[in-house]
Amino acid sequence: MKGLILSGGKGTRLRPITYTNAKQLIPVANKPILFYGIEAIVAAGITDIGIIVGETRDEIIEACGDGSKFGAKFTFIDQPDPLGLAHAVLTAEEFLKDDKFIMYLGDNLIVEGVSRFVEEFEKNAPHCQILLEHVKHPSHFGVAELENGRVVRLVEKPKEPKSDLALVGVYLFDKNIFDAARSIKPSFRNELEITDAIQYLMDKGFTVNPHTITGWWKDTGNVEDLLEANRLVLDSLKPRCDGTVDSKSEIVGKVVLEAGCEIRNSVVRGPAIIGRNVKIVDSYIGSFTSINFDTEIIGSEIEHSVVLANCRLENVGVRIEDSLIGRDVRIGRSDAKPKALRFVLGDNSEVGLI
Ligand code: DAU
Repeated sequence: MKGLILSGGKGTRLRPITYTNAKQLIPVANKPILFYGIEAIVAAGITDIGIIVGETRDEIIEACGDGSKFGAKFTFIDQPDPLGLAHAVLTAEEFLKDDKFIMYLGDNLIVEGVSRFVEEFEKNAPHCQILLEHVKHPSHFGVAELENGRVVRLVEKPKEPKSDLALVGVYLFDKNIFDAARSIKPSFRNELEITDAIQYLMDKGFTVNPHTITGWWKDTGNVEDLLEANRLVLDSLKPRCDGTVDSKSEIVGKVVLEAGCEIRNSVVRGPAIIGRNVKIVDSYIGSFTSINFDTEIIGSEIEHSVVLANCRLENVGVRIEDSLIGRDVRIGRSDAKPKALRFVLGDNSEVGLI
């Protein structure tokens, strides 16, 4: 089997994190979302992987390399315009040839991985297998209607969803998907929808097997969602200490300390991850927090938050909670007069004062 990861699309940004254009590279527990998909596919024994790239191709290629660091071989496939998921499949036809393949949307994260679904697909040999999860807002997704455990209808982003079962961004296909993708028409959003191509397979009598899962995350562009993904992943991390912790500090619960990080006179309460060369001094890092590389936290308290690389939080004075802090951010106190709050905030920033 081959793998196909979709990492094209427009330069959509997960607001307010505007540090990068590629939404697939936003870190969750200090690792780009895209890498979870790659690792899950490799763990399922699939190493010949095509990656669809678009506007943000250079960033994606630079982050992924040739695949060797994942134990895989990558073929980058340019999709000139993001004309839909089924269009992406057609763009990859020459790479995929007649092989069965797993298609993974690069902005999706499935905590349990995909090995079980790949095994199931190989064992039962349907023409297509889809994954579903119950969601709160089905109209944001492709939605499946089931009868007696069989899929009867799939609709992309219905205004009035008939069920709360969303299509997860992982699909398994055989070569029949190419004819299906060629046979459908662009949708209301002018895209060739994979949802319509799968409906076409069902209409033509091909077997489409559903599998309902839990522990799926997909970026829907808000902070709560990203913190939730961070929480899900941190909960499943194995603790590790590659950094240094002085005798006045306390590490409690599941904590990952990356190489070069330094904890001085501080408490870190897991689940949490402290990245490469991070300095935590006279501070408290609470549960469900990820601190990315080269950041410094001095005399401050933070919990249930994600802090990206190269930030400095110094003597903040009140605990920071439920926050997402982008790259190169400075938060601190100053003696400058007049005594006032001073901000330099990017578009779509949010500040909660107490
Ligand atoms: O995430 C699950 C959902 O993904 C499904 O429930 C929907 O049925 C499916 O259509 C898809 O919906 P989205 O509107 O959320 O897809 P999005 O445009 O975000 O694209 C998903 C990924 O595929 C993203 O990493 C960008 C990439 N992509 C997208 C398009 C349209 C491409 O590489 N090429 C494309 O042409």
